[in-house]
Amino acid sequence: MQRTQWYKDAVFYQIWPRSFCDGNGDGIGDLWGVLSKLDYIASLGVTGIWFSPLYPSPQADFGYDIADYYDINPEYGTLDVFKQVLDGAHERGLRVIMDLVVNHSSDECAWFKESRSSRDNAYADWYIWRDGKTPGAPEDGGTPPNNWDSLFEGIAWEYEPARDQWYLHIFAKKQPDLNMDNPAVRAEVEKIMRFWLDLGVDGFREDVITYISKTEGLPDDNPLMPAARGMRFYDHGPHVHEYLQQFRRNVLSEYDCMTVGEAPMISAEKALEYCDEGPDQELDMMFTFEHMSADCVFTDWIPRPFDLRAYKQALGSWQTGLAEHAWNSLYIENHDHPRIISRYGSERYRVESGKSLACSYLFLRGTPFVYQGQEIGMTNTHLERVEDSADVSTFNQVARLRRLGLPEVACMKLVNRATRDHARTPMQWDAGPGAGFVGGNGAAEPWYPVNPNYVDINVAEADKDPHSLLAFYRKAIALRRKLPVVRDGSYREFKRASKSLFAYAREGESQRLLVVCSLSDQITYFSLPEGYDPSQASLCLCGYGDAPVEGNGFFLRPYECRVYLFEG
Ligand code: NOJ
Repeated sequence: MQRTQWYKDAVFYQIWPRSFCDGNGDGIGDLWGVLSKLDYIASLGVTGIWFSPLYPSPQADFGYDIADYYDINPEYGTLDVFKQVLDGAHERGLRVIMDLVVNHSSDECAWFKESRSSRDNAYADWYIWRDGKTPGAPEDGGTPPNNWDSLFEGIAWEYEPARDQWYLHIFAKKQPDLNMDNPAVRAEVEKIMRFWLDLGVDGFREDVITYISKTEGLPDDNPLMPAARGMRFYDHGPHVHEYLQQFRRNVLSEYDCMTVGEAPMISAEKALEYCDEGPDQELDMMFTFEHMSADCVFTDWIPRPFDLRAYKQALGSWQTGLAEHAWNSLYIENHDHPRIISRYGSERYRVESGKSLACSYLFLRGTPFVYQGQEIGMTNTHLERVEDSADVSTFNQVARLRRLGLPEVACMKLVNRATRDHARTPMQWDAGPGAGFVGGNGAAEPWYPVNPNYVDINVAEADKDPHSLLAFYRKAIALRRKLPVVRDGSYREFKRASKSLFAYAREGESQRLLVVCSLSDQITYFSLPEGYDPSQASLCLCGYGDAPVEGNGFFLRPYECRVYLFEG
């Protein structure tokens, strides 16, 4: 099969299904809702959809705990409705990629139910089972096999009396890690991939794919590690490349599909081990977190003031680090992070900063992803109490903070800064009841409260306004797709030391695109770099209604952005 690398011209829209659009009136987003919004998605100019998990799941982690890899969650629809969505998307020129979550399953998956029932059954070795260090149940003094932390829920082990053993869960207790060292598990992953590819999907976003191989012996980590103890023994583990090459060789190479691997801890240099476009290529691109840590240390839960230079440095290191060797993925929002305007931009300059942030990544080299609601500038919501959260990882973080003795007010401050709930409030379609998210007669309560600002911030409102962020996204995406230099040009950054401006160019032989974004509320002057003659430039985009030039440069108003094209 000739792989065409179609993804290099693609722009994806990410749907987190529970909160996108409710078609059947039960207050939960679903595929009927998606069907009704395919024209809207196509109207953005994007060329693909990434679905966060749609599979049957007890929803302990909203679908990232899969109970059946071969079906659709009945709350969201059926395989038939999914096929209608797939056909409808393809008719509109939209490719569809699925989330593939194979580091772990749900504890309600049939494989795990069988696996936990005894030490001797067909699935006994499908998960990571170990004897305790001290035998017996925890209430009888039994202790877990090692000192690893779960990233979501206490320690990384849970005791199972039927086997008198513990199972590993890097995430929540209801997300047992699959044993990828078992060839039968890898064969099943291949089967899952084929099932969806044969149905017509165009690829996968592979969840925490760098975690699938654990260091033999599962050694204890340094007990003084303050958090994520154990991670160095499973992130980029010993067989990860072997397994990913197997999937590529046996399945993915037979389809003209694409893969993007989620990699929580990865540098550009390390990414080349996975997606260098040589004969051993494993994945087409990676989702890095580096540029998402410009206002925090390692996780959103350890905040620091937004540092534009850190953001630029991270993005730049991937642009230059991957250069001609590999392809980038580009994103500034997804279902795991608070809204970007509330983080890196300004709610006061919501539309302006939304436009500037859009330009800060949409014209880089790589495949951009836009998260639902990002295009209308949705912002963070407000939680009064921890119980207002629906997020398993937030509960875990709060338990840790309480153990550390943090006062409740401070805990809530952190929750409001870091929780994943911010990205998961229902999509704001219009100013009507329930923000137009609820289908049917609209009477049901949305499964999670809509952000009260939906009255002003919603699709219907933005659609009427030619200067809205939505209109800007449409123009920016169209521009990106029109100009070959955005796909092929090299990357050059200016004013690297600036704490208020991000300025870069994409340079090709006959075209150069200059992108200047202010991420500050102060007025800042930008002088054009040498070789960039303002009289040769045409303005393609500006975050404000006009774009005066003064001398050899221009003043940027708060959060203003501009994109100029130089031809010839
Ligand atoms: C990454 C996913 O994006 C996140 O939502 C999920 O909680 C974890 N992986 C565990 O699957």
